[in-house]
Amino acid sequence: MEGSNQRAGRLILGIETSCDETAAAVVTPDGRILSNVISSQAELHARFGGVVPEVASRRHLELVVPVLREALAEADAELETLDAVAVTQGPGLVGALLVGLSAAKAVAWANRLPLVPVNHLHGHVASLYLQPEPIEPPFLCLLASGGHTLLIDVAEPGGFRVLGTTLDDAAGEAFDKGARLLGLGYPGGAAIDRLAREGDSGSYDFPVARVHGLDFSFSGLKTALLYTVRDLSEDELERRRADLAAAYQRAIVRALVARVHEAAEQNAASRIAVVGGVAANSELRAALPEAAFAPLPLCTDNAAMIASAARYTEAVPFPGYLALDAYASG
Ligand code: KG4
Ligand code: ZN
Repeated sequence: MEGSNQRAGRLILGIETSCDETAAAVVTPDGRILSNVISSQAELHARFGGVVPEVASRRHLELVVPVLREALAEADAELETLDAVAVTQGPGLVGALLVGLSAAKAVAWANRLPLVPVNHLHGHVASLYLQPEPIEPPFLCLLASGGHTLLIDVAEPGGFRVLGTTLDDAAGEAFDKGARLLGLGYPGGAAIDRLAREGDSGSYDFPVARVHGLDFSFSGLKTALLYTVRDLSEDELERRRADLAAAYQRAIVRALVARVHEAAEQNAASRIAVVGGVAANSELRAALPEAAFAPLPLCTDNAAMIASAARYTEAVPFPGYLALDAYASG
């Protein structure tokens, strides 16, 4: 096929297994997504109220090959048409990361391809560099996900500088813990987002701790919700659930927005961008109308963003990557 020939040797296969999504994607060097396959394990972990690392690793092991095959098939790509294999090296759950890293090594080695080890956080930022509406640095970026809440200065597409971070829970973690207290299941960000639309955000006043500099703190907020919920009867909780969700969400969104504005002012940032799972939140998107948000399907974990980041990351040539290790934090 003409199309495949034109693309021959020019495609990047991305693999992401840092948490509970098994994902693979094929992306062109100019950032077009040819396929983006995500198999979420959320249901598997729901009954435990959070991700169980050992369970996640085992599930990644079952899913990684079928997900890879699907990503290649959807992109109409063959292993021979690949230019490089990109994979999340960290941070994340080490056992989960190792499944993706091992799969990436196997595919790259068997096809004599280079391997690009990608930092997951860089991946989230690189979700902004994909077609059809890529944005270019410099910009100030809020990265808010289940594992991280960072304010970062992005001067060029190959990296970033951290300006502030959370001292305790991540914003997505605050959503998930709140959802659990409200009986909304795991993961709870999207559920709170939906329910909050039916509630009155002014009916409760949840305080968010003000901490030094450009850092965040969300653990006190979760405790405030816990105490409020504990004082309600089953019936009352049922009746007030939407109000609680709305007030709780408002507190998180306000804290994020306030910090973004402070950071933008301090750094004289002309542009603001928001990425990560929490970037999917409708109230946050409405509260920062001037900001560029990652497209909805690319907010939560996916492999297209990993392949995108690989375009700005040094590749390790064949076969020097076999000893590469995953890292949990950093
Ligand atoms: O980026 P992500 O998929 O994984 C990490 O790298 O951590 O983010 C997942 C997080 C979860 O905490 C989830 O509850 C949250 O993103 N999330 C949301 C929404 N959709 C996902 N939080 C608030 N509102 C949403 N609509
Ligand atoms: Zn993530």
